[in-house]
Amino acid sequence: MAPANEPLPGTSDIWEPDVREWVCLETAARDIFARYGYGEVRTPIFERTDVFVRSLGDETDVVQKEMYTFEDRGGRSLTLRPEGTAGTMRAIACRGLADGEQLRVFYMGPMFRGERPAAGRRRQFHQVGVEAVGGSDPCEDAETIAMLVHYLDAIGVQGGRVRLNTRGVPEDRAAVSAALRQHFEPQAAAMCPDCQRRLSANVWRILDCKNPACQALVDGAPKMVDLVGAESRAFFAAVCRGLDQLHVPYELAPRLVRGLDYYVHTVFEVVHSGLGAQDALAGGGRYRISLPGNKKALDGVGFAAGMERLLMARESLGLTAQARAAADVFVVALGDGAVVAALELAQQLRRSNAGLRVLAGLGARSMKAQMRAANRAGARWALIIGDNELTAGTVVCKNMAASQQESVRREAVLDWLTAASRA
Ligand code: HAM
Repeated sequence: MAPANEPLPGTSDIWEPDVREWVCLETAARDIFARYGYGEVRTPIFERTDVFVRSLGDETDVVQKEMYTFEDRGGRSLTLRPEGTAGTMRAIACRGLADGEQLRVFYMGPMFRGERPAAGRRRQFHQVGVEAVGGSDPCEDAETIAMLVHYLDAIGVQGGRVRLNTRGVPEDRAAVSAALRQHFEPQAAAMCPDCQRRLSANVWRILDCKNPACQALVDGAPKMVDLVGAESRAFFAAVCRGLDQLHVPYELAPRLVRGLDYYVHTVFEVVHSGLGAQDALAGGGRYRISLPGNKKALDGVGFAAGMERLLMARESLGLTAQARAAADVFVVALGDGAVVAALELAQQLRRSNAGLRVLAGLGARSMKAQMRAANRAGARWALIIGDNELTAGTVVCKNMAASQQESVRREAVLDWLTAASRA
């Protein structure tokens, strides 16, 4: 059994220097998405369960098997968000969207799915995602995909492949379902029990099945673009033209439908060979979501990228965070009286404009122990204050690497450090 102080399976503690890798992904997202007119939104981590069930679809794997759902004290069913789109749409519906108004938002943060943990498959994972709501121009789909590729380039994730398909509009659904059923029904005996049930419940879900026997049948299934109506085909052609115009390479993935039911028209994903079995870095598409209390369905297009997977891809390309020292300066305090003086000096240095990271040896320990702590923190300089220095108003400034030291007047310590850092 795992020790009680380990994080639960599929969750992690994230430490320095990895945290800086995360910050790097977040900073690039804010920078790149802002260039396309997106503003950040932060929505709650839990919502009423029906927010997710209604928008993702009750036949989806996420809703059927993966949601962390619980009852609050009032007996309401609540769910930890398994993805960001549904909550964002709930928030936009609550804020209100005027007729003809378009809104572009991005978000980042933890999502929760009770999946079997594996490399790249977590129970608490993190997404950075975007939603452009209120428009219906296929060029916006192309622009969204171009922005995702721009973001991947900005964080150094080369080698991602965009896979693209259409799911058509709801009016196409009956004809598509009938054609799929016609293809799969004669081969039902060869399919997994889940897919046998999906034949009548939701035949589209068979296209997502990872079971090798079902996959073999999926490979021979008709292409979505041949099943959808003329309007959907024209929309898809316009998305492809937009991508060509923007010089974004993509592959057609004729049977990609993605695992969430809110998609209409465009669906896409970006896969990367550095990831292993869970090879999707990001996924998205155009959607239509109707929510309780909302008069009209909301149309939008967006994507989310898994941050753990982005980091795995970066690692596969040799891009990893270097360990960084915890402090530049360590103030050693020898004797009770010196502790307060050391703290005061540390505070003065931190509040200066030099950007120094400063630790003070609090707790009245020996010189040896404090020098050891300074080394452990990776400090380049130690500033030593003992009784003599207290009386004389001086500080012993020591260069840790060169083991050189000199006595400096207290008010000149910052100048000494500034000169030392330039040397
Ligand atoms: P999704 O494909 O379910 O789409 O998730 C998007 C990305 O989140 C995946 O490509 C993957 O990188 C990451 N991801 C998903 N599940 C896990 C997991 N268990 N562990 C680690 N990473 C995971 C959505 O969530 C849609 N809301 C995307 C979207 C936004 N569509 C339109 N707008």
